[in-house]
Amino acid sequence: MSLPFNAYCFDRTRVRLRKGVSLDRDEGLGTNTIRARNLEFPLQDRNGLLEFAALLADGVGLAQALSLTSANERALALFKGILMRGFAEYAMYYAPDEYIRVIPNTGDYIPEFPAEPPHAQYALVPDAFLKRAGNEWVLLAPKCRAEVLFPFPSGFEMLSGLAEGGSPPCEHSGRALVYATLASLGLIETRFGDAESQPQTGLQFHELLFHRLSRKGDHGQASGATFAGLPKGGENPFSTRVWKAGQPIILPDVPPIEKPYGKSIREFSDRPISLSQLGRLLSMTVMATDSTTNLIDGVPIEVPQKPYPSGGGLYEIEVYLAAYNVAGLPVGFYHYNSTKHCLSTVSNDEAKLRRLAIISRTTMGARSDPATVIVLSARFQRMTWKYRSLTYSVILKNVGVLMKTIYDALPGCGLGGCALGSGNIDLFEELTGLDWLEESSVGEFVIGVPEQPQEREKG
Ligand SMILES: Cc1cc2nc3c(=O)[nH]c(=O)nc-3n(C[C@H](O)[C@H](O)[C@H](O)COP(=O)(O)O)c2cc1C
Repeated sequence: MSLPFNAYCFDRTRVRLRKGVSLDRDEGLGTNTIRARNLEFPLQDRNGLLEFAALLADGVGLAQALSLTSANERALALFKGILMRGFAEYAMYYAPDEYIRVIPNTGDYIPEFPAEPPHAQYALVPDAFLKRAGNEWVLLAPKCRAEVLFPFPSGFEMLSGLAEGGSPPCEHSGRALVYATLASLGLIETRFGDAESQPQTGLQFHELLFHRLSRKGDHGQASGATFAGLPKGGENPFSTRVWKAGQPIILPDVPPIEKPYGKSIREFSDRPISLSQLGRLLSMTVMATDSTTNLIDGVPIEVPQKPYPSGGGLYEIEVYLAAYNVAGLPVGFYHYNSTKHCLSTVSNDEAKLRRLAIISRTTMGARSDPATVIVLSARFQRMTWKYRSLTYSVILKNVGVLMKTIYDALPGCGLGGCALGSGNIDLFEELTGLDWLEESSVGEFVIGVPEQPQEREKG
């Protein structure tokens, strides 16, 4: 009897440490270390761990790796840790010496294969795209559990059929292995829609891609500060631009601002935020103060008015709070109803709330956990029915305006805080259960009671 198709695929898949990740042994000290860029992870030489890491460094069959980790809990933890940090990749051999590289975007991605080879006609999904990286082609989509790299030219020939619907042979073959992998990742599909069709959110391809890759979540891109490319020895790139032409016109002096607003505070006292402080902050920044009836497409529609200006006048931003230290409020994730000025519980999931606290603390490099994280999300469709193409950029500008409004209101509430540039959109999806294409987080703001009394109370 011939091998089931999934066993055939496992046989042709190897898992290994990625280029740039190495297993180093220091003979003098007798230590072993997994090294990647400037990260180092010491590895103990017991429980078969070193042996397993050495297999991964050389490349090991996926079936063997899975059987070793199912028999050894520590090896499983090591494997998961390696996957989670993006240190491993899968090589799938579609010919004796030719393989695609599958690089996980999520920490838990292990390829799965169907029992039968695919036999339908497939085409790329509308938002999949291909770009060159070195001498390979990378196939990816805005949300995808892994990126797939094809060598040039043989791998590219396999892709060329997918624009118009390519049929893999219905038998065990390299092409069937590749098609099964792409199908399981949602990069190809059997329903060929209109290639121009838009996802239900209305956000366009470049906007979805920008949203996903510029936030934390399932993708393999480095995010946050890297300090790459700062020119050495040249002019200070932070110096004020001086326009040399003509005589400068000196402007009249203005009295200095005594204590400027808008200063970030990242460390807080243990004192809880009171509900009245929280209520005051929300009413000064995001509470609906009024409403107006706009004629939209000839239909009268009531639109709220809020204390901050909003491009498009549609107030697409929703406000959620992860409350950790608010007097009288159990730890939880809440939605703020801006018309009724009240909070509703969205989730009490402690593990997810903990993840949000850790991400927020580390994003601002703080020692202590935040008292509250305000999460700002956007309801995309509110904007996409009105605008095309510039929607997402307007949303981000609105987030900036709202952040400044919060900065300015904090001292008057006896609070301090810090805007955050990069929250995790998948965690927001898990906490709210909302599809990221419908509503997704676009900004965060940590608040708490500062150690020092605030500058001054606003009237
Ligand atoms: C949109 C935005 C995103 C920000 N993201 C972060 C962040 O992720 N981490 C952080 O520590 N500070 C963040 N900040 C705070 C800035 O670092 C801070 O405003 C800036 O350094 C000026 O310092 P100041 O607020 O003390 O005047 C952000 C501020 C804004 C407006």
